[in-house]
Amino acid sequence: MKITSLYKGLWPKMYVVLRNVILPFSKIEQFYPKKGLIYDVGCGFGSYSIALALGSEDREVIGLELSKERVKKANATASKINNVRFEVRDLRKDSGLRDCDCISLVDLLHHVPHETQKEIIQECYRTLKKGGILLIKDIGDRPRWKYLYNYFHDRVIMRNRELFFIKPAKLREMCQEAGFRVVIRRIKHWTPFPHVMFVCSK
Ligand SMILES: C[S@@+](CC[C@H](N)C(=O)[O-])C[C@H]1O[C@@H](n2cnc3c(N)ncnc32)[C@H](O)[C@@H]1O
Repeated sequence: MKITSLYKGLWPKMYVVLRNVILPFSKIEQFYPKKGLIYDVGCGFGSYSIALALGSEDREVIGLELSKERVKKANATASKINNVRFEVRDLRKDSGLRDCDCISLVDLLHHVPHETQKEIIQECYRTLKKGGILLIKDIGDRPRWKYLYNYFHDRVIMRNRELFFIKPAKLREMCQEAGFRVVIRRIKHWTPFPHVMFVCSK
């Protein structure tokens, strides 16, 4: 099933189509467990959460997101899919995370201040089961032109709201300090975004 066709309304559909061009779900699917409880944090309109749920009925997926409007749209879009639901949460206040098998942060961390990034990673470590996995998809710093392209792209989209990019080496250190074992995988894709996946095991 094409996830984008599930979305109604011009803006959510455009957003999800664009996200799927920038980072198709097929490029990250391999990293996720096939079963268990998965939180997709900062899930936006929830297209990756829905794709995860449709990918295996043994997954229970909960999308957490700051924007009420995005959560409303995500829940409406997924109303007929039993193993996914969405909740409004501000990670800085109450994460809502509980004992789980996998936590996914796709392009969330560079939207929160560095101090909060550290707290989020520590909270993920606390709430994952032993053997659980934290997946952080963020933006790498190489090649430099891709990093700069993404920086200006986000600047335009975010209209001067502050961004908090973090170097992969620094992010690895933060995850290791929280207790994770970390493997960094570059995601190859034709678009000019230096996608990097941090696979962090507890
Ligand atoms: C770049 S979007 C990525 C959305 C989705 N993960 C995707 O890849 O399509 C980042 C999302 O994180 C959400 N977000 C930012 N700060 C947050 C916070 N403190 N708590 C929960 N969600 C947050 C934003 O509202 C936004 O929808």
